[in-house]
Amino acid sequence: MTTAKEIRSSFLDFYAKNGHEIVDSSPLVPRNDPTLLFTNAGMVQFKNVFTGQEKRPYSRAVTTQKCVRAGGKHNDLENVGYTARHHTFFEMLGNFSFGDYFKDLAIELAWNLLTKEFGLSKDKLLVTVYHDDDEAVDLWKKIAGIGDDKIIRIATSDNFWSMGDTGPCGPCSEIFFDHGEGIPGGPPGSPDEDGDRFIEIWNLVFMQFEQQAGGDRVNLPRPSIDTGMGLERIAAVLQGKHDNYDIDLMRKIIEASADASNVSADGDLAVSHRVIADHLRSSSFLIADGVLPSNEGRGYVLRRIMRRAMRHAHLLGAKEPMVYKLVQTLVDEMGSAFPELERAQALITETLKLEETRFKETLGRGLKLLSDETDGLGDNQALSGDVAFKLYDTFGFPLDLTKDILRGQGRDLDEAGFDAAMQKQKEAARAAWSGSGEAATDQVWFDLYDQHGATEFLGYQTEVSEGQVQAVLVGGEVAEKASAGDEVMLVLNQTSFYGESGGQEGDKGQLVSENGLEIQITDTQKRENLHVHIGKIIKGEVAAGAIVETQVDGGRRARLRAHHSATHLLHEALRQRLGDHVTQKGSLVAEDRLRFDISHPKPISAEELRQIEKDVNDRIRMNAEVSVILTTPDEAIKAGAMALFGEKYGDEVRVVSMGGEDIGKGAGKNYSTELCGGTHVSRMGDIGMLKIIGEGGLAAGVRRIEAVVGEAALDYMNGQESLLSNAAGALKVAPAELEKRINGLLEERKKLERELKETRKKLATGGASGGNDQEEIGGVNVVAKVLEDVPPKDLKPMADDIKAQVKSGVAVLIAVNEGKASIVVGVTSDVAEKLSAVDLVRVGSAALGGKGGGGRPDMAQAGGPDGSKAEDAIKAIKETIANG
Ligand code: ALA
Repeated sequence: MTTAKEIRSSFLDFYAKNGHEIVDSSPLVPRNDPTLLFTNAGMVQFKNVFTGQEKRPYSRAVTTQKCVRAGGKHNDLENVGYTARHHTFFEMLGNFSFGDYFKDLAIELAWNLLTKEFGLSKDKLLVTVYHDDDEAVDLWKKIAGIGDDKIIRIATSDNFWSMGDTGPCGPCSEIFFDHGEGIPGGPPGSPDEDGDRFIEIWNLVFMQFEQQAGGDRVNLPRPSIDTGMGLERIAAVLQGKHDNYDIDLMRKIIEASADASNVSADGDLAVSHRVIADHLRSSSFLIADGVLPSNEGRGYVLRRIMRRAMRHAHLLGAKEPMVYKLVQTLVDEMGSAFPELERAQALITETLKLEETRFKETLGRGLKLLSDETDGLGDNQALSGDVAFKLYDTFGFPLDLTKDILRGQGRDLDEAGFDAAMQKQKEAARAAWSGSGEAATDQVWFDLYDQHGATEFLGYQTEVSEGQVQAVLVGGEVAEKASAGDEVMLVLNQTSFYGESGGQEGDKGQLVSENGLEIQITDTQKRENLHVHIGKIIKGEVAAGAIVETQVDGGRRARLRAHHSATHLLHEALRQRLGDHVTQKGSLVAEDRLRFDISHPKPISAEELRQIEKDVNDRIRMNAEVSVILTTPDEAIKAGAMALFGEKYGDEVRVVSMGGEDIGKGAGKNYSTELCGGTHVSRMGDIGMLKIIGEGGLAAGVRRIEAVVGEAALDYMNGQESLLSNAAGALKVAPAELEKRINGLLEERKKLERELKETRKKLATGGASGGNDQEEIGGVNVVAKVLEDVPPKDLKPMADDIKAQVKSGVAVLIAVNEGKASIVVGVTSDVAEKLSAVDLVRVGSAALGGKGGGGRPDMAQAGGPDGSKAEDAIKAIKETIANG
């Protein structure tokens, strides 16, 4: 038997051999089309390549594309399990030509693959073409050698493929496989074409046109090719099965489900196994692509799929959560082709388990309510909208889950009644709502949120995406449109821009569009679950409905990521080195630094800081991967996640673990585990290195640590190095000699200061014994001097020296510094009895424009603002002495 794995690789290899580039599947959340719920065809990722807007280095490509058809326009959810070929998740094999080959080679390659590589008999195949496409008819005849009886012209849209209301489109030709006479059904175009005998396996689209908004259809720059073949369908054909659920890949999962539930794969409950197998695939792939269950948008579609699977697990009698147990089988089957599945295995498993654990709490009770209600209804009586709403609101039953249950009873439900009940609840929420205080602007956000739901954040996975503008605000109010020069705030349905939260600053970057719009985004904030893009329009005009490309400044985001992850490591290192009392008091994550405030009663010593810095850098160099899972706050905290006391967490939390295994915490436990909604590096090495640059007290018992990582750390260290080399340059030594040189200079300076003091003293007192400075006034020896540049504190010791030299007399010293004077008067004790130093100093001070002065009769000092009067002061003192 040819396995699905082998079919996938022979398809890719065949086209690679024929000059096609093997391109990875794009994610299920289309980043280049915000109007599309999920990627639903292989060509979605190439939309702009067909129209010529985007250039790729190849003109032929081949892919196996993950597709989800659930919710939105293409919704197969309700049929899954009950039919042979409906899936919410499938793989589309496709080859593409972007203006390279056209119809002829597309037909030739497809035909050769099916009949030569896959060995299908020509007799089993037939094709359809668009009714007026004579060219295709001729090519089929020529290349495949089939006759008119095998070429069916179809006039309907079935053979004209368009991506959506706008976008690339063209006539198409479909290849059908005939499962044989034993199965009822007619060929395409016949009245019983819906039967199961003739199954479409491959659609070749001859892309020729672009459908534009407004109804115009223009030619593509060059005719192109887009094809799509469901892997599950071709596998069924090649494995001789009629039902897609019987192929090896699906069967493995169904058998795992049978094992886990102990219920036969093919008995009465076969449908439940099929539903579980299909929904396991879509849920797992969606989670791997960043969708998490929620109550809005894509997250709600995922929740609906998961809960539908879980109800079927319940039907199988599973007492404990079971769907998550099948993840390993899925990874074994598909992980090699889609490595993202392997990478996200932990997240997928935890998310499924959590959802099922929680839904189990209400599922049984909800089913009981439902059966009590339906027991009281007549055979054809519909279930009331109020009951359906109660099931939704209180028991978490998505509407389609209730419908699915009622389907088994052939019963309808009153959807209008359900909608009315929902509306009533919304109105009650609005009435009860109270904002954060800024009443006027708060109300705007609440209204927008009420109208559009939360902004979907794609920025964990990508920095560039497309989004549809939901509201334009100018001056804080919703505006019809805004144009160049306007300061605006924009809300989009989805964005790659992170809104400031958890200390991490909001993203900057730009929003642009095909028609030349350019908006510089300088900040992104979060309001009521909306990401609010704040900026200025540089060029063009914007109004609600516009599709814009959201381009986050990637370099800045990388620096933010590095600082954020480093903050987690720092937090843990601080706790391990300082103690468990350390808790986070505040945090700022910027692109060029981080600031982290903690509770700690005393300064962190230099040695402790060095150790903490080393711990962080050791963890960075270990380069372990970062892991992110989703769980309940309680579970997370039980598992050792650090959570902030007093912080409010939603129903589900993101748990970010990093730093590699920490043996001290137990096998398999990470160094750091925190609840966090921020963006993080994927491996520790991406941080580069961490350098602590400051530590200080912020408030009683709170310390603030500042640090830089990566590029910012290098900049910081370069800055330090140039300080050092400038200093060394100024002293004309090598940096290594700097310390010695500075110590030498300090020693020298001390010595010089000492010498200077001595010299000054000599100058002040010099000649006192008989020198000119000494005179006799009224029988008293007087030495009086004005000194420049002598520190005031030196005056007293000098006066003492003079007193000692003259033995009996008066010393008057005035120092003038920067225009101000200080005066000291010393009087030997024999003289002090009649001439008090205090009186004399006051006379001097008065002459200097000052007041007062104080001391003892033998030594007093004062100041005076006017140093230019120093000689006058000396004169005044001498006169006082003369007057006795
Ligand atoms: N885009 C085409 C389809 O989805 C091939 O059928």
